[in-house]
Amino acid sequence: MSYIGMFLTIAIALGISLAAGAVVIPTTAPASAANVDKALLSVSFEFFAFPGYTAIESTANCLANIATLRGAPPAVRIGGTTQDRATYNPSLSTAVNYTVANAGDAPDTLTYGPSFFTLAAQMKGDVTVGLNRRLNNQANTLAAALQAKQVMPNLLSIELGNEPEFYASGSPIIPGGGWNPAADGASQKAWFTSLAPSLGNIFQAAVYLQIPTWSTAGLVPMLGSAINFVKTFSGHSYPQSACGGASTNLQSLLSHSSIVSYTSRFRSEANAAHNAGKRYFLGETNSATCGGGGISPTFGAALWIVDYALQAAINGIERQYFHQGTIGNCQYCWWGRFTVGAPFYGVAFVSEFLGTDGTKLAMLDDGTSAVAVYAIFDSAGRPVRLLVYNSNFFNGSGTRSSTVVSFTGGNLPTSGSRTLKRLTAPSAMSRVDQGEAVTIGGGGTFDSTCRNAGTQTRETISISNGDLSVTVRASESVIVYL
Ligand SMILES: *[C@@H]1O[C@H](CO)[C@@H](O)[C@H](O)[C@H]1NC(C)=O
Ligand SMILES: *[C@@H]1O[C@H](CO)[C@@H](O)[C@H](O)[C@H]1NC(C)=O
Repeated sequence: MSYIGMFLTIAIALGISLAAGAVVIPTTAPASAANVDKALLSVSFEFFAFPGYTAIESTANCLANIATLRGAPPAVRIGGTTQDRATYNPSLSTAVNYTVANAGDAPDTLTYGPSFFTLAAQMKGDVTVGLNRRLNNQANTLAAALQAKQVMPNLLSIELGNEPEFYASGSPIIPGGGWNPAADGASQKAWFTSLAPSLGNIFQAAVYLQIPTWSTAGLVPMLGSAINFVKTFSGHSYPQSACGGASTNLQSLLSHSSIVSYTSRFRSEANAAHNAGKRYFLGETNSATCGGGGISPTFGAALWIVDYALQAAINGIERQYFHQGTIGNCQYCWWGRFTVGAPFYGVAFVSEFLGTDGTKLAMLDDGTSAVAVYAIFDSAGRPVRLLVYNSNFFNGSGTRSSTVVSFTGGNLPTSGSRTLKRLTAPSAMSRVDQGEAVTIGGGGTFDSTCRNAGTQTRETISISNGDLSVTVRASESVIVYL
């Protein structure tokens, strides 16, 4: 890398740390800069819940907000565990039909009808539809896929099965010899081969969570020439889990060095897809599985999204589809019927950083400290904005530390000023759904239907001798407009 790394001293006395050397802003996008897809921040809807989401006003408004900030609509994937519990009924008059004991439950079995795809056709971005493989009813899945193809001009790809590594031993798809990556690879290959003549080369393959035991890199050679039927590859990712009473940790979720280390595991997966000429997505992701462990609805999770999305792009992941589960029982969801949660503030903030003009992204720190620094470049290769992410943890008690990051180089004049916008909250634990004020630009928020509310303003920072110094408190992030 041609630019100089940043060295931060340890926070001392006043809780203020200073970068020992100024961060040099590259004047043009470095050769190592990553491409940024317009739909990097996308959304996955749990299969059975998707029709319900289309009836919530926030769904259209939140997606429209991202589209405005990025200049293109986010992509949508419809799938999850319940795609493998669903059976298509071409004469069902409603989009879905199921019964659950409690409103917060996901159904064990469901049927869906043609209007499911009519609703999917109304989404503005690319749509990936996840269909059933577990029940081994290929004719039924084909009938559904044909209906999707017929009515959805926005159909990007079709999944056949979700996280097949978790199929229970009695699942109809499992052959006599048992279930392992090789058996699943043979099954994916056989299904693609049988269905491609009717559907085309449209499949999203892999769809594994347990990477690298089950992986895109492992599946590619197993597919052989059936790779021609594949359009995209998908992996799933949840950095933390609250399943089976496991404990979660917000400080480690939002830690920059932890995010760098965690996200880098997908680099070889993305490479395997790209080397085969296919796209690579995290087709389902979010912060913590099994109820979110109390950390998923916090401002800290909003901060996590900012850094995690940027690290995804750095590692060759073209899109991340953040999962939205059961309406009314979903800690990590960006919105529900009544509130837009803290995580969405991170989505909006990082989308503004990437902007409508951002095409190349560079990380300007070495990935080992608590403070991240990024630059986004336009299509002419010019740096247009910087982002500083301070992952030092502030839980609301004691003194909130700050870090000062100095920038030089780029296109900065010797004097003058620039502006910045801040993403902040009283602490990393703050929750919008508990009445705490998460804000963008001082007063910007979202109302209960995900419309912009309040007023966003920018702070002015002056340039002194060609240096621009930015102060960012613990558990905060800022965008600098160059
Ligand atoms: C809907 O599902 C319930 C069971 O959950 C079933 O009794 C009912 O007949 C279904 N309705 C239709 C129209 O298929
Ligand atoms: C916050 O952090 C302080 C010091 O790091 C600790 O003593 C306190 O218990 C923490 N409070 C909460 C609510 O986690």
